Amino acid sequence: MKNTSGNSSSKKNAGYKAAEYVEDGMVLGLGTGSTTHFFIEKVGMRIRDEGIKVMGIPTSFQSLLIAKEWNIPITTLEEHDIDLSVDGADEVDCDFNLIKGGGAAHTKEKIVDYAADKFIVIVDESKVVEELGTFPVPVEVLPDASRMVIKTLEDMGATCEIRMAQRKDGPVITDNGNFVIDAKFDNIESPAHLEIDLNSIPGVVENGIFSQMVDKVIIGTDDGTKEL
Ligand code: A5P
Repeated sequence: MKNTSGNSSSKKNAGYKAAEYVEDGMVLGLGTGSTTHFFIEKVGMRIRDEGIKVMGIPTSFQSLLIAKEWNIPITTLEEHDIDLSVDGADEVDCDFNLIKGGGAAHTKEKIVDYAADKFIVIVDESKVVEELGTFPVPVEVLPDASRMVIKTLEDMGATCEIRMAQRKDGPVITDNGNFVIDAKFDNIESPAHLEIDLNSIPGVVENGIFSQMVDKVIIGTDDGTKEL
């Protein structure tokens, strides 16, 4: 389930602006999605045009492929710490809490973004909300646990759907071989508590609430960027 709002020029402005924070020698976390696509592209251009030397740790096969296309050297968390991670979001609230995982990549994204010394989120204006929760919370689950996890989520007040693939029969399968349940809560009073509660359900691998992780938000507009 993608949040398909927003236009590509504002996504591009946000992604390109974030690439200005990249310094020679950095190890970068490479987020996933259409906004981060522009960030990775611009980093690739800076390698080509300015000769900066950086390495990237992708959060998905999608970001790995884009990084390879732009000749960005790849490394892993086994080998390097991360100086800066840049990633998109499906929603961001005024306290910098996020919902991510519209592209089903939130588990690796959370590992990489959490590991980074600095984490910048890039969004267009349509993703900025007062309170999280219009977008359902993606919950990655082990397939065998999905029915029991849905029962627990429903007891917690969520309306749930297993995310279905669009060009394959059956559910979306994540890069980690799991299913995603989209859990819609009427309201999310405390993102930090819900993040912990969701991960306490047996069978849940990771959920798409990212609380208290973000250092900076870059919002792309039609003609530039704003920074929070
Ligand atoms: C991937 O699973 C997501 O967390 C994306 O980062 C998020 O959906 C933002 O994607 P777009 O930039 O394509 O909106």
